[in-house]
Order: sequence, then C-alpha cells, then structure tokens
Amino acid sequence: MTSTGSYDIQKHNVTPEAELQRLKTQATIIWKKEARTLKWFGLKDGMSVVEVGSGPGFTTEQLCTLLPNSEITTVELDPFMVQQAQAYLKDKGGDRVNFMQASITETELPDNSFDFVFARLIFQHIPEPVAAAKEMRRILKPGGKLVIVDTDADMYGIFDPPSPSFAIGIDKFSQASAALGGNFRIGRYLWRILQEAGFENLDLEAVMAHSDELGIEPFTIHPLNVDLFLRLVKMGLMTEEELNYFRQSKEEFLNSPSPFVLLTWLMACGAKPAD
Ligand SMILES: C[S@@+](CC[C@H](N)C(=O)[O-])C[C@H]1O[C@@H](n2cnc3c(N)ncnc32)[C@H](O)[C@@H]1O
Repeated sequence: MTSTGSYDIQKHNVTPEAELQRLKTQATIIWKKEARTLKWFGLKDGMSVVEVGSGPGFTTEQLCTLLPNSEITTVELDPFMVQQAQAYLKDKGGDRVNFMQASITETELPDNSFDFVFARLIFQHIPEPVAAAKEMRRILKPGGKLVIVDTDADMYGIFDPPSPSFAIGIDKFSQASAALGGNFRIGRYLWRILQEAGFENLDLEAVMAHSDELGIEPFTIHPLNVDLFLRLVKMGLMTEEELNYFRQSKEEFLNSPSPFVLLTWLMACGAKPAD
C-alpha cells in the first residue's frame, strides 16, 4: 500500500494546522475510557507496543504516559506525520519511541516480536483491512494482542437537540470515505476482520465521550466541524446549500438551552494463537 487511503492531512481540513488541532482534541476526549479498556484487554506497563497509523503523536504521548516502562514503535505512512510526531514527542518520552515510516500492510518489522498492537482510527481509512490485520498478527508474539479502535456511522453518537443536517453530514462523510477507499461503517466489521486474519479470544467493547462531562467546546472542534465538509463540497458529494444548512444547524444547536453530544467508538481485541 502506498497511499494513506481515505485520510490525507493535507486535504482533510482547511489547513494541516486545523487538522492537527482536531486530531489533538479527538485524541483527548475519549482517552480515559480507551486507556481503561486497553488495560481490560490486557495492556500492561513494560510490554513492547506497536502503534500503527500513529499520526502526529498525540496518542503516542498518551501511551508513553500510560506505559512509563514500555518501548513503543510507531508505524506511520505519511512522512509529514512522522516528522510532526518526532518534533512533538521530543521532550515527551520520545526517547522510548521508535519511529518507522511504513505501511500497516508492510511494516518490515520482524515476526513474533511484540506484545501489543494499537490501531486507532486507521482501519476505517484503508482499503485492505484484513491484510493489515494479518500483518499485525505476523509481528505479534504468540498470545500478543491487537486492539482496533474505530467508529461506525450508524452508531456515531447522539446530538440533542437533534438536527437532520447532522445525520446528512454523517452520511455524506461515509460516501466520501467509500469514494476514497475507506469505510466509515467499519465498526460492525471489526470482529470479522480479526476472525478472518486468524485472531482468537475476540472481544468487542464500546467507549464513549459526552459533553455533560467534558463541556460542549471540544465537540465543536470534533465532530461539529463545518470545515471538514469543505472537501466534500469540492468532491461534489455535498452541495453549498447542504453545507450552509449544516452551518446554520450547528449555530442553532450551540445556541439551544443545553446542547448535548455523545460520541461512541468501538474497540475490538484479538489474540494471536499460541502456536
Ligand atoms: C485519522 S489519523 C489517526 C491518527 C492517530 N491514530 C490518532 O488516533 O490520532 C489516521 C492516520 O493513519 C495514517 N495512515 C493511513 N493509511 C496508512 C497506512 N496504510 N499505513 C500506515 N499509516 C497509515 C494516516 O497518515 C494518519 O496519520
């Protein structure tokens, strides 16, 4: 695989800087729940960990804090992201991080070498999810675990008061993802992907973040971000009218007496068979 599938930081948002800010918000809001589910799945300090599709390093930073004695290998295809991560992590535990520029389907990492692989918001973007999971199985030690964190358009979340424009936005986003080789409904397939790739002892959990706990502000950066839809207009998948409808609905939503957002992500785990 030579492309980053349906994700390209240069095109995803109005500017790469705006996208970095969105990724940072997204890396923070559900982390508490993700971290405790990762531990529930068996992640322990001292384990050798691979993070695939690690992006600009915001989640790597979280892993460094969670696992102060672990060595972490990041695998990221986009050289811009690798540079961002190296700079960002320089004073944040980056000396325990090995940075690799490679694809999830061809990491060039050795066989049977790692205890845990963490794949967050990458499987929805790649056209060959089973091949990617097989590559993760190859590099894991027998008994090692792969955890995939991802989303599904049909259980994306709750917006209250609701607006049809948000449902339209999610559907348009799914269409864009499919047109670019990704799958915004991948959540429902995670179990089967792990099964097909030869993992066992499968598990599937949901984690969530909501505005009653975190305040509404982070949710205006992700997911209620009008700028993310500009690319869809360029792609001809959304009209200017639909974009304006979304913009106006967002304003109305934020001006309503007590707006509420709840986001749901899925976390799937599988173990590499012992022999
Ligand atoms: C939405 S970002 C998620 C970044 C990070 N995991 C997070 O949760 O903040 C998806 C990342 O996957 C990377 N990516 C896409 N296709 C890839 C591939 N085939 N191999 C490795 N990385 C890839 C992208 O460049 C991007 O950095």
